[in-house]
Amino acid sequence: MCGIFGIITNQDISVGKIVFEGIRRLEYRGYDSCGIVSLTDSQLIVKKDSGKIDDIQKRIDLSDFPLSSKIALAHTRWATHGPPTKENSHPHLDCTSKIAVVHNGIIDNFIELREELSSNGHVFKSDTDTEVIPHLIEEFMKQNNNDLKGSLREALKKIKGSYALAACYAEDPESIIVARKESPLVIGIEEGKTTYCASDIPAFLPLTRSCYIMNDNEIAVLKSGEVEFFDRKTGQFIEKELQLIEWSIDAAEKGGYDHFMLKEIYEDPMALMRTMKISQRELSLLAHMLWSADNIYITAAGTSFYASLAGKFIITKFLGKYIHAIECSEFKNQLENSLKDNAIIIALSQSGETIDTIEAIRWAKKKKNIKIITVTNVVGSSLTRYSDKVIVTQAGPEIGVAATKTYVTQVLTLALIALEIAKLRRIETPEEIEKYYNALKSTPQIIEKFLNENVELINEIVKTLEKSVNFFFLARGISIATAKEGGLKLKEVACRFIEGYSAAHAKHGPISLVREGFPIIFVAPPDETYQRLIGNVMEFKSRGGKIISLVAEDDTKIANLSDMVIRIPQPSDKYHNIFSPITFTPALQLLAYYASISSNLDPDKPLNLSKTVTVH
Ligand code: M6R
Repeated sequence: MCGIFGIITNQDISVGKIVFEGIRRLEYRGYDSCGIVSLTDSQLIVKKDSGKIDDIQKRIDLSDFPLSSKIALAHTRWATHGPPTKENSHPHLDCTSKIAVVHNGIIDNFIELREELSSNGHVFKSDTDTEVIPHLIEEFMKQNNNDLKGSLREALKKIKGSYALAACYAEDPESIIVARKESPLVIGIEEGKTTYCASDIPAFLPLTRSCYIMNDNEIAVLKSGEVEFFDRKTGQFIEKELQLIEWSIDAAEKGGYDHFMLKEIYEDPMALMRTMKISQRELSLLAHMLWSADNIYITAAGTSFYASLAGKFIITKFLGKYIHAIECSEFKNQLENSLKDNAIIIALSQSGETIDTIEAIRWAKKKKNIKIITVTNVVGSSLTRYSDKVIVTQAGPEIGVAATKTYVTQVLTLALIALEIAKLRRIETPEEIEKYYNALKSTPQIIEKFLNENVELINEIVKTLEKSVNFFFLARGISIATAKEGGLKLKEVACRFIEGYSAAHAKHGPISLVREGFPIIFVAPPDETYQRLIGNVMEFKSRGGKIISLVAEDDTKIANLSDMVIRIPQPSDKYHNIFSPITFTPALQLLAYYASISSNLDPDKPLNLSKTVTVH
């Protein structure tokens, strides 16, 4: 939920400026406050405040530290324990102000630890759970000959919860100690010169492409241009493989776009093309697993959940088995007494760090004989550690808080599995399957054409809706997933209230809200639900609703009933219709983006949100 970044170097470079830029690249993880600590001449210098990094920078120069500093740690916070104030900002120090810690995660037993430490004379300055860590380390330093690594290991034995943390000690200018459990942490290295630690690879990508991914319960000692890994519990040395990151730096930066969200919408086609290349062998393995399972569940949160709703629909069409789609936070509540054996859970998560998704599968695995298939965008993320099979979508790093390109790649991945199932079961002829494949392969071109030709139209629609605060997004069948996802985007980035709903069900209550000019967006691909949807459009139109329809290129019927029409340049055939969540959703992503801009909001940093939700 927060971002951490650290550097240790033997080079004549400004560590202040480097960590400042590094932590800025992690601001998508939280932007309630920011802080940096650097070690100079056996002293820790701390600069921190509440607010977004650029706003703080206008008040104090966060990057200005003496050039003799060779160590710095930085943190960007998404508030959980205590309000977003300067006092609650990281880094946090111990009583002697010699130990500094930045932390992402939650210390579940911090109240007990705080009471214990307070009764031993420790004085706390913040409301945070994190502050117990430097004080606990301080306790153990006395017994461990001021050895930071040993003391941190002792401290972590007492801590219950999750953490990615980095610590430094004023008397040790030669090392930073980091540790990981259930929160992401990666190490970047320029051999012999500089070592970095960060919550996410893009933070150090402009500086190095060589990295190590830390696993749960590992500790690492970072020295200038060197790193050593140890098992937290046994203290044993761990050999680790250096990985070369091939993402372009460009992919991790904004490129020429005003916002990450816009850049990432325009990356939908490329992300799909890369994801199309997922190995056939892997897909076929998953198809076999699903085919032999007695029960299948699919679980996720937010956008990933809406991708699950679309994917469930596509897989069911070819698999012929019901798939239970359950929001991850409700998974245990709903299945406590009915979870079935010989089951498979498909868990979807862009980040692979959503705690409710992780908890759902961990709970299920403990309870029954269950296999987990994870679809994620992040290699080595926590979710992958609890999974039997992992498929990595190839969207590349997604920085905008609103998920966009990762949604289309998630649906594509599930669609690719569905087509493998169709092959396995031989329920379609090879020629038919080929046609479905060709339709899937054409999705990047369809989206690219749409994005290139419709910006003006989308802005025109945004303008006519400028004053509207309430919307319905309605659809039938598979498009309910598109309506919900499109509605969520507008909600998140443009601060409007949206009900993403079944068009048929909407007349059992929601329709009573409709007055003259009430905006209703109908998602209307020409599939088997189309004829009935016409009736729903008429019901809302006759009550004064302003109808905006999202239709296929050659549509006439619903288009003629609409006040405004968005046309997706795709053929009207069954092969394309089943994949409409992929081709129709980018139009709604673009609508949300421009609605956010026209409301003077920052689409990359929606209010109260964080890219990765690691609290329950
Ligand atoms: O990383 P995940 O896919 O597990 O995240 C799930 C949701 O938190 C996420 O999709 C959220 O709803 C986004 N802000 C949607 O744009």
